[in-house]
Amino acid sequence: MRDGIPRFVPEDNYAKSFGYQWNAHRLTQLDSYVGLPVSRDRLLRESGWTADELQDREVLECGSGAGRFTEVLCQTGAAVTSFDISKAVDANATSNGRFANLRLLQASIYDLPLVDESFDYLVCLGVIQHTPDVERSFKTIFRYLRPGGKFCIDVYAAIVAYPHLRQLLRPVTKRIPPGKLYSVVQSVAPRLLPVSMRLGAVPRVGDYLTRLVPVANHRHLGLTDSQTLRTWTILDTFDWLSPQFERPQPRRRLERWCRDLRLSEFEIERIRGLYVVRGTK
Ligand SMILES: C[S@@+](CC[C@H](N)C(=O)[O-])C[C@H]1O[C@@H](n2cnc3c(N)ncnc32)[C@H](O)[C@@H]1O
Repeated sequence: MRDGIPRFVPEDNYAKSFGYQWNAHRLTQLDSYVGLPVSRDRLLRESGWTADELQDREVLECGSGAGRFTEVLCQTGAAVTSFDISKAVDANATSNGRFANLRLLQASIYDLPLVDESFDYLVCLGVIQHTPDVERSFKTIFRYLRPGGKFCIDVYAAIVAYPHLRQLLRPVTKRIPPGKLYSVVQSVAPRLLPVSMRLGAVPRVGDYLTRLVPVANHRHLGLTDSQTLRTWTILDTFDWLSPQFERPQPRRRLERWCRDLRLSEFEIERIRGLYVVRGTK
């Protein structure tokens, strides 16, 4: 236990770049900070759930980062258990610690101090492609969901038609200490953003052209304020270039894992570069 958070992993682990990132950007993606329901819309759109149905339910959130979805879940009145392997939990605690319905842990998917089949809902967004064994991560989290419980997990889609220049850079950039890499991203990404914007505006092929510039471009999110857009660009460009693991998955493999788990109902939807897997256990 440190700073009121139970800790079940070594301080120094493979996800330390995430700890750095989410403490540097504790507020950036929180709806309450942005003033727009970006995270709320994404969570409800991907899961197909309503905020009302979550009230008083036991919800497990895996890999919560700075807590953009933790905030949304807590606001529904659910009893939320949220964990992350990295020091991101400290940022989450600072922002969302005020919610009496939140229990936060620093722990790994692979070794959770939780009771099997004790949750009604399972949420895991933006996480499992960043773990060393994606199949094991995917299958392990279902242990904690009760039969008949609902789940929503998203994962980077492995799509042949979706190459991006950043994929060539990451094998090198992930070896750079987080503080140094962050300084480079902070100075270079804002300069590349206008280039990416111009390419993105080219009719029909704009989306493909932006992939030639290794900078996160969130023009589709409706962030109208240029300072907000710039900050999201720095955060997500770092998020692309720094993780130790990034393993996108093909749809067929996800289908196979769902069948292995004998889920009573599931569907897989592609949303931009993600596969969203949702259903009932
Ligand atoms: C890209 S961030 C997404 C955070 C949050 N879900 C969001 O969408 O803002 C991925 C998170 O997964 C966490 N993570 C990676 N491996 C993990 C593991 N084995 N157990 C728990 N969390 C893990 C990282 O520390 C990081 O905060």
